[in-house]
Amino acid sequence: LFGLPDQAAHERVLLATDPATGLKAILAVHSTARGPAFGGCRLWHYDSEAAALNDALRLSQGMSLKNALADLPFGGGKAVILKPQGDFDRPALFAAFGRAVQSLNGAYITAEDVGTTTADMRGLQAVTPFVSGIPRDDAFGGDPSPKTAWGVFVSIQAGVRLVLGRSSLDGVRVALQGLGAVGWHLAEFLHRAGAKLVVADVDAAKVERAVAQFGAVAVHVGEILAADVDVLAPCALGASLNAQTVPAVRAKLIAGAANNQLATPADGDALQARGICYLPDYLVNAGGIISVAREYRGEGEEAAVMAEVSKIAERVEELLQRVQKADSTPARVADDWARSKLVTLG
Ligand code: NAI
Repeated sequence: LFGLPDQAAHERVLLATDPATGLKAILAVHSTARGPAFGGCRLWHYDSEAAALNDALRLSQGMSLKNALADLPFGGGKAVILKPQGDFDRPALFAAFGRAVQSLNGAYITAEDVGTTTADMRGLQAVTPFVSGIPRDDAFGGDPSPKTAWGVFVSIQAGVRLVLGRSSLDGVRVALQGLGAVGWHLAEFLHRAGAKLVVADVDAAKVERAVAQFGAVAVHVGEILAADVDVLAPCALGASLNAQTVPAVRAKLIAGAANNQLATPADGDALQARGICYLPDYLVNAGGIISVAREYRGEGEEAAVMAEVSKIAERVEELLQRVQKADSTPARVADDWARSKLVTLG
């Protein structure tokens, strides 16, 4: 399939098509060693099928590491739906996608990701039980993004203390790339804690709101990664830290929600060489999967979920201790740590 070498690392990759609805989706099951592969579904306009496959493979592998490091009894998987051109029947498209999820018989469980909503997940529920992230009147559930944002927030708090040596976020300058579902909640948490925000988003209305509500300073999207700040929080899309952007980063700490922030492992090394601490995305952004996993297992309750998400800060602390001992980078140490947990649970 498209000749991408990465594929060999995955247990199963399904290309699902449905001409009647225009569905073209890739469901990637990276690992079920710890349990069913759990990870969101992205709806995105891709330039090519190869680009969609590459995204699904990278994201599903990242979910294996994320779920393992968060000690969840789930493996890693992810689905991407190639957004049809022009108008399309959204409920019908998601029903067709739900049938594809169902055809994997529980090897893959889906939830929200970029481009998909709680309403989409509710629609899927009519077709398959292997879905989470659904608001319910009688039980915990729904949009995972506030929980993701909380996990990123506690990671920034821990990093500010341990890396920057500052006891609180009061007056700490944070650059936020992306004010979407996660970025907006993160901005709220940071503002409440006294941080000074610098923000950028391709959507000017979101930027205007952040300026009005949080007193944020707006910069151009092309300048946010190089902003003169203490902390950089990438909360847009992946591969923002690459050979072009890394040399310009001025923050000393990077912790954000976006998946696959490093374009290549070498970019993590380059950050370290510049004295910048990069907290791996899949460690700090696990709040959402912790939330939908608890919901799926029927163990959800707001306080318990928040307590579990808050534990991400302890893992950040442990990671930084491991990094010191290993004389390596946080990205490489986290990878080894997560891979050591990719084992069948007893
Ligand atoms: P979203 O689509 O709601 O927000 C993304 C925001 O980034 C949008 O406001 C968009 O306009 C903006 N954006 C896009 N390109 C940009 C650019 N070049 N510069 C600045 N802003 C740009 O997505 P969401 O849910 O907030 O997710 C953000 C990231 O976090 C994604 O990479 C996602 O995979 C990841 N993530 C999200 C989780 C969740 O619970 N929603 C969980 C774990 C990871």
